[in-house]
Amino acid sequence: MTPEIKNFIRRLPKAELHLHLEGTILPATLVELSARHDTRPLTLAEAESLYHFTNFSEFLESFRAVTRLLIGPEDYELAAWRMIEHLSAQGVVHAEVFISVGVIYLWRNYDPQSFDPIFAGLERARERGERELGVSLYWIFDAVRHFTVEEAERVFQKAAELRPAHPSIIGIGLGGDERRAGSEPFRDLYAQAAEAGLRLTNHAGETTGPEAIREALSIGSERIGHAISAIQDFHLIEDLKEQDVPLELNPTSNVRTGLCASFAAHPLRRYFDLGLTVTLNSDDPAFFGSDLANEYLLAHAEQQFTRDELRQLARHSIRASFLPAETKAAWLIRIDSIE
Ligand code: ADE
Ligand code: ZN
Repeated sequence: MTPEIKNFIRRLPKAELHLHLEGTILPATLVELSARHDTRPLTLAEAESLYHFTNFSEFLESFRAVTRLLIGPEDYELAAWRMIEHLSAQGVVHAEVFISVGVIYLWRNYDPQSFDPIFAGLERARERGERELGVSLYWIFDAVRHFTVEEAERVFQKAAELRPAHPSIIGIGLGGDERRAGSEPFRDLYAQAAEAGLRLTNHAGETTGPEAIREALSIGSERIGHAISAIQDFHLIEDLKEQDVPLELNPTSNVRTGLCASFAAHPLRRYFDLGLTVTLNSDDPAFFGSDLANEYLLAHAEQQFTRDELRQLARHSIRASFLPAETKAAWLIRIDSIE
C-alpha cells in the first residue's frame, strides 16, 4: 500500500455517519474507567478479553460489558473526547454519533433525570471538539429494539424534550438485535419523532433479509444502517436508488460479526456501481479493529476503489449527513479541491 493513498485519505474531508460512542472505547480507556469504578480494577489483558466475540450475539454481549463501565458524566465526557480526538486524526470533519440512551435508562432504574448530567458531559466534549479540533458532531439517540417499545418511547421522548435547547441532538435510531424485533412496532414512535423535528435512522438488513429494510423504509427511516441484504432484492435496490436513500455501510463490522465472508465480498462495490448513495462507516471501531480511514483504505485495497471513487464516497458522506445545505456545499467544494 502506498503511503500516498493513505495520505490522500487522511486529507479528504469525511463524515462518519454510523458510529456508536460506546463502540469507540479502547481497552486502555476501559482500564481507566475500571480504575474509577471497580474495587478490583481490570488489567489491560482482562479488558482486552472483553472484546472477543465470534458472532453477532456475542458481539452485543461484549458491547454491553464495555458499556457497563460508563457510569458518570465524566466517563461519558472522557469517552466522547477520546472519540473526537481519534476522528480528527483521521480527517473526519463531521460525525453523527449514536448514544445507547436505552441502556443508560435500563441501568438507572428508568429515572428520567439520570440522563441530563450525562448529556451535559457529552456536550462538554462535543463543544471542546468543535472549538479545539474543528470537528462538528451531532448526537443520535439510539434505542435497543429488542428491549420494549415503551423503552424506545422513553429514549425518543428524551430526544424530543432536549432538542429545543440542544440542536446537536439531530435524530433517533434503533439498534440491537433485528432478529428479535423489526421496525413495525415503532411506527407511531417514528412518526412522533419526525413531528418533533428529529431525523430518522434505523439499523436494518444487518442480520435480517431485505424485507426488514422495506419495513424500516415504511416507517419513515431516512437512512438505513448496514443494509447488507438489499443485494438479494433487485426491486429494493431500484427503490433505494429512486428514493435516494443513503446507506450507512460498515464492511469490517459485518466481517467481524460473521455476517459477511470478507471485505472483498461485501456489497459495497456493487451498491456503488449501481448508483446507490453508499457511505463508509466504522460502527464500533474499538471492537472491530478498524476505523473510518482504514475502511477507505480497505475499499481501495480490497475493492479497487480509485482515488476519485474514494472522493465520491466522501462526497456521499457529506450529502447523506444531516448538516445544513450551506455547510454541505462548503465541504463538497473542499473535497473537490483535495489533490
Ligand atoms: N449496537 C452497536 N453496534 C451495533 C450493530 N452493529 N448492530 C446493532 N446494534 C448495535
Ligand atoms: Zn450500528
